[in-house]
Amino acid sequence: IYLPNLSLQWIIIQSGVFSFGAGLLTFKLIPTIAELTTQANLTGMDLNKKGDPKFSGKKIPESLGICTSVVYLVCVIVFQLFQWFSFPETIQLSEYNAALTSICFMILLGFGDDVLNLRWRYKLILPMFASLPLLVAYAGGTSVVVPDISFPVNLRFYLGTVFDLGILYRIYLLLLAIFCTNSINILAGINGLEVGQSVVIATSIIIHNLIELTLSVNSTSAPQFGNPHLFSLILMVPFLFTTIALLFYNWYPSRVFVGDTYTYFAGMCFAVVAILCHFSKTLLLFFIPQILNFLYSIPQLFGLIPCPRHRVPKYNPETGKMHAIPTNLTILNLFLMIFGPMTERRLCIYLLAFQGFCSCIGFGIRYFIAPYFF
Ligand code: UD1
Ligand code: MG
Repeated sequence: IYLPNLSLQWIIIQSGVFSFGAGLLTFKLIPTIAELTTQANLTGMDLNKKGDPKFSGKKIPESLGICTSVVYLVCVIVFQLFQWFSFPETIQLSEYNAALTSICFMILLGFGDDVLNLRWRYKLILPMFASLPLLVAYAGGTSVVVPDISFPVNLRFYLGTVFDLGILYRIYLLLLAIFCTNSINILAGINGLEVGQSVVIATSIIIHNLIELTLSVNSTSAPQFGNPHLFSLILMVPFLFTTIALLFYNWYPSRVFVGDTYTYFAGMCFAVVAILCHFSKTLLLFFIPQILNFLYSIPQLFGLIPCPRHRVPKYNPETGKMHAIPTNLTILNLFLMIFGPMTERRLCIYLLAFQGFCSCIGFGIRYFIAPYFF
C-alpha cells in the first residue's frame, strides 16, 4: 500500500530536482543568449522610460522567452527519458508527446512572431493550429456535469446530471488555448508583468495539483501514476523554475524582454495541462485578471475605439510616475485611474498582488462554493 505513494513522492521530488537544475541553467544562459539576440538586432526600446536620462536610448534584448522555453523543453524531454528508465509504468506517451508537440509548435510560432511582427489576425489563428495535436490526443470525456441549480431554470431537469457536449467540447478547448495565449500577451507592457503573472498562475496550478493528489492518495490505495494531476505537476514545476529565472532579468528595470515567444509559450503550457488534466474551469478561475482585461479591451480589440500598437500608460520623466491614458482600455490604465499615478515597479506589484488575490478567490470558489453546485 505504501510503496506506490512513496514512488509518487519520489517522482515529484525528482521532478523538483530536475526543474531546479533547469532554472539554474536558464539563469546562466540568459546573459549569453541576450548578447546573441542583440547581435541579431532582436531588441526593443523600453517604452515606459522615454525621457529618463538613466535609461534613455538603451536597446533591450528581446525574445529571451526562447531561452526559457528551450531549456524547459530539454528538461521535460530528459525527465521523460529518465522516467522511462526508472518507472516505465508511469509514462502515458501519447498525451505527453502531444503536449510537447503543441508547446513546441507554439514556441516556434511565438518566435516567428517576434522576428516577423505578425498582424493581429494571425496571432489569433496560430494558437488554434498549435493546439490541434493536443485535441486529437485528448482521450478524456466530452461530457460536463450539469450544475445542480433550480433558479432561474432547473438545468438538471432538462439536461440530466451529465450532458455530452460532443464536438462542442473540443471547440471549447480550442478556444481555451487561443484565450490563454493571447490574454497573457495583452496583459503586458510594463517590466515584469508578463512573467510575474505566469509565476502566480503556475504556483496556483501547482498548489491545486498537490491538493488534488493528496485528496486522491488519501481516498484510495491504488497507485496514482495515472493521475492527471501528477502529469500536470511534471509539466508545471519545470515551467515555474525556468520562469523564475527569467523573471530575475525581466523584473524592473528590465535587462531583457521576453517577447511573444514567452507569452505564447506560457499560455500554451497552461492550456495544455488544464485540457489534459481536466481542470479548465479551475484554470479560468486563476485567469480572472486576464478575463477582466480582455473584456475591458473588447472595444479596442474589435476596432470600436482606435487601438495603437502599444496600449501602455504614459510615463512622466519629471515625477518618475506612470499616468493613465483613459482611451487605452487595459486594467493597467484602470488601476492608475483608481489608485492614482505610481511608478512602474509599484504598478506591477499591485497587478501581481491582484493576480494572487484572484487566485485565492478562485480557490475559495473551487473548494467551498462549487461543491454545492456539482
Ligand atoms: C501587446 C499589447 C500592447 C503592449 C505590448 C507590450 C494589446 C492589443 N497589445 O502587444 O498594448 O504594449 O503587448 O508587450 O494589448 N515593452 C516595454 N516594456 C515591457 C514590455 C514590453 O516597453 O515591460 C515594449 C518593448 O518595446 C518591447 C515591446 O513592448 O519591444 C514588445 O511588444 P510585443 O510583445 O511585440 O507587443 P504585442 O504582444 O504585439
Ligand atoms: Mg507580446
